[in-house]
Amino acid sequence: MKVTYHGHSVVTVDTGNHQLIFDPFITGNSLTDLKPEEVKADVILLTHGHNDHVGDTIEIAKRNHSLVVAPNELAVYLGWKGLNVHPMHIGGSHQFDFGQVKLTQAFHGSAYTEEDSQKIVYTGMPAGILLTVEGRTIFHAGDTGLFSDMKLIGELNHIDLAFLPIGDNFTMGPEDAKLAAEWLRAKQVVPVHYSTFPVIEQNPHAFADSLPGGVGKVLEVGESIEFK
Ligand code: NI
Ligand code: MN
Repeated sequence: MKVTYHGHSVVTVDTGNHQLIFDPFITGNSLTDLKPEEVKADVILLTHGHNDHVGDTIEIAKRNHSLVVAPNELAVYLGWKGLNVHPMHIGGSHQFDFGQVKLTQAFHGSAYTEEDSQKIVYTGMPAGILLTVEGRTIFHAGDTGLFSDMKLIGELNHIDLAFLPIGDNFTMGPEDAKLAAEWLRAKQVVPVHYSTFPVIEQNPHAFADSLPGGVGKVLEVGESIEFK
C-alpha cells in the first residue's frame, strides 16, 4: 500500500487493487502535483463540505465512476449532483471492499460555498476519517481544532499513520497538533493543511522535529510512505 501527499489535505492511497483519494482539492491548490483530469480514483473520501476539501470531487467522480464516501448531508448534496455516494456519520463504521472506514468527530464547520450565486449550502457536521486497509490504520483528521477525545481515539485504535492539520487560523496550529499527535499515539504523524495560502503558512519541519523521535514525518508534495 502506497500513501502519498499531494498538498493541502489531499492524500491518495494506492492498495494495488483500489485507488483512493482524500479531499481532492486540486483546482486552486497552489501546492499540488495533481491534475484533476488525470486523477484515477475508484473511491473519494471526504471529511467535510468546505470547498478546499470537496475540491474537484464532482469532475473526478463523474469521469471515474468513483464511490464518494462522506458525512450524510454532504453525501446527499453530492448525490443530487449525480454522484454515486455512500453516506456515513460520526461514530459509524462500514466495511467496504477496499477496507474499513469509520468517521470520527472534528471540531470545525461544514458547508459548500456556491461562489456564482453567493449561496452557502450547509453540509452537516465535519468529520475525521479512520481508514483501515490491509491491517494498517490511517487517520485523516480533516479540519479540526484540538479536542480531548483524541485521547479516546488513540486508545481505541492503533493508528499507524495520522495526517494532522497544522496551518492554524482555520484548524489546529503546530502547538495544538503536537498535543493531538501525543493523544492519538500514532506511530507516524504527517502535517497537512499548511502553506497553501498565506494565512496558513507554517514550517512543517519545525512541527515534525517537535515530536518524539521518528514520529514526525514531513512528506514533500508527491512523496509517499509505503507499507509492505
Ligand atoms: Ni474546512
Ligand atoms: Mn480546510
